[in-house]
Amino acid sequence: MNDNEILKKVNPLYFSAKGCLGLLAETGDLDIVNFYNSIDKEQLTAFDDNPIIKGRIISLEVRYHIWNVIAKETDCQTIVDLPCGYLPHSLITARLNKNYYGLDLPIVTDEISRVADKFLNEREKFFVQYHSVDATNYFSMHNALKDVQGKICIITDGLLGHFNCDDLKIFCGNIHRLLMKFGGCWYTTDSHFTALMSKTYAAITGKDEAIMSNATSKGRKKVGEFDKNETVFTNGTFEERRNFLEECGFTVESFRYPEKLKIIPSLKDNPTLMNKILAAYQDMEIWKLTADDTDLSENEIDLPFTQNLSVKDNILSIRISGRLDTITAPKLLQQYEEYQAENKFAEIHIDAAELSYISYAGLRVFKIMRESLDDENLFKIVNANDEVGEILKEDGYTIN
Ligand SMILES: C[S@@+](CC[C@H](N)C(=O)[O-])C[C@H]1O[C@@H](n2cnc3c(N)ncnc32)[C@H](O)[C@@H]1O
Repeated sequence: MNDNEILKKVNPLYFSAKGCLGLLAETGDLDIVNFYNSIDKEQLTAFDDNPIIKGRIISLEVRYHIWNVIAKETDCQTIVDLPCGYLPHSLITARLNKNYYGLDLPIVTDEISRVADKFLNEREKFFVQYHSVDATNYFSMHNALKDVQGKICIITDGLLGHFNCDDLKIFCGNIHRLLMKFGGCWYTTDSHFTALMSKTYAAITGKDEAIMSNATSKGRKKVGEFDKNETVFTNGTFEERRNFLEECGFTVESFRYPEKLKIIPSLKDNPTLMNKILAAYQDMEIWKLTADDTDLSENEIDLPFTQNLSVKDNILSIRISGRLDTITAPKLLQQYEEYQAENKFAEIHIDAAELSYISYAGLRVFKIMRESLDDENLFKIVNANDEVGEILKEDGYTIN
């Protein structure tokens, strides 16, 4: 496997962002179409012409423009697009003469930084940076923002619903720490993500909103692969989501979509439908969060990542320390592939005594290793701490 294939394997979620760009390209927005024509579409297929897809396109379009409105209105000079996916927000932000930091998984930033480069002029390039992060890894984000001066405005569109409970808490702790360090605020459209789609669908078709929410929940499970990550952002009420964020140390202020967005560009020739949809958004909110002084520093402790592989009698032994996440898992997969090319392993033993955290990316690597064995029961994990052990057990592993 080459580097790119390894990155794709450890976190296939990047592909959902390509889908978002593809759907948005249907609106005909020139920046979006330019970006879409420049990405590698991989297995992205043509979209069906049906009201579910139409509802998704319009709600994505609305969130895309809301993002742009927030970037314009904020008094912060630096906008952090987390996760940036493949959308052309960098162009919009640079045209506003504001600094743009696009943060996402390495597989995404590698490609999108090259695409953006084609469409930014020399002056605009000065404002734009892309960095690879794992949003659950504080140091990767801290590193990405190390040159920032002044307050930041982080905008999150399309991430919270992908996390499991642990990742969600870690992520919110990380954002809190960034805001304590830089000052500024965090906006997210994710609190009303699914509801916005359902309202759009119902306004277009006159049918029940539930048809759209059911379709979305099925799609989410397909894209995320794991179906156990039910959290307050996938199943909770708006109030539970707000309470959760307040418990994470944020003050939450809300804005309604129609306050911020007066037109939906792709529907400007159909004002009746446009107004019907905007009217359906009366209760739809965007949340602005600021960090209060709660000390959340317990989220800090992380050992540096190391991996030690050794082979004896067809047994591969691996000792891992630190965080096995989207940033570190590719290294483990790569070294494992190199060893595997020269050996046929009968057993794999993982010593997890110093493994402080494992994300989906790490679980995917374990799954690849386990499935490579003739007898999957001979994939053994020992010494995992309670938290890591819980996650591994949920994924069907026995910890010895
Ligand atoms: C639904 S897309 C949204 C992207 C973009 N905001 C948009 O609206 O198109 C989800 C994005 O989250 C990114 N992502 C998933 N897990 C992540 C993590 N742990 N750290 C950083 N980005 C992550 C994926 O790579 C993907 O680009």
